[in-house]
Amino acid sequence: MKNIILIGFMGVGKGSVAREIVANSSYIALDTDDMIESMVNKKIKKVFEEEGEEYFRKLEKDVANWLQKSVKDTLISTGGGFYKVKNLKKIGTIVLLDSPFDEILKRIEAHPNAKAKLKKRPLLSDLKAAKELFKQRQPEYLALADIVVDVTNKSALECTKEILKKVKKYDK
Ligand code: S3P
Repeated sequence: MKNIILIGFMGVGKGSVAREIVANSSYIALDTDDMIESMVNKKIKKVFEEEGEEYFRKLEKDVANWLQKSVKDTLISTGGGFYKVKNLKKIGTIVLLDSPFDEILKRIEAHPNAKAKLKKRPLLSDLKAAKELFKQRQPEYLALADIVVDVTNKSALECTKEILKKVKKYDK
């Protein structure tokens, strides 16, 4: 089994889909934000505040190099900007969770913990800037993805079924 890498914008549901994939397959899961938080023993928000975004992006590169060398049979969920690491293609099959910006916002707002979801993501604090970032990243996500899954109005389980089916075909 090749690794599966979930990419996509903040709040699109990478974490929920990752948990559902693990519950319905033999993949083990890793999350690049969680890995970074345990590497530096600090929340991402704090890393942005204290060391800045550039340092965070360097940590993402370190994680990407380690993943390429050391990890297989794994479902890897990533932070929304992780796709920029140079070796992404070498880590595994890239699956983009795709949805329009407004739908992503609706999804976050509908969550019982919406406030916390927004608070922990420094790049979502200014929604106008976040929309610009989305517009800039969207074509880059699409260009990199081996598989694209439109997650709009789908449950995590529906997305999971679609992903596992498409990955199976793709890996043949
Ligand atoms: C980021 C997304 C975040 C986190 C960091 C930066 C981004 O992860 O890695 O705040 O650049 O899009 P999520 O996509 O899980 O919110």
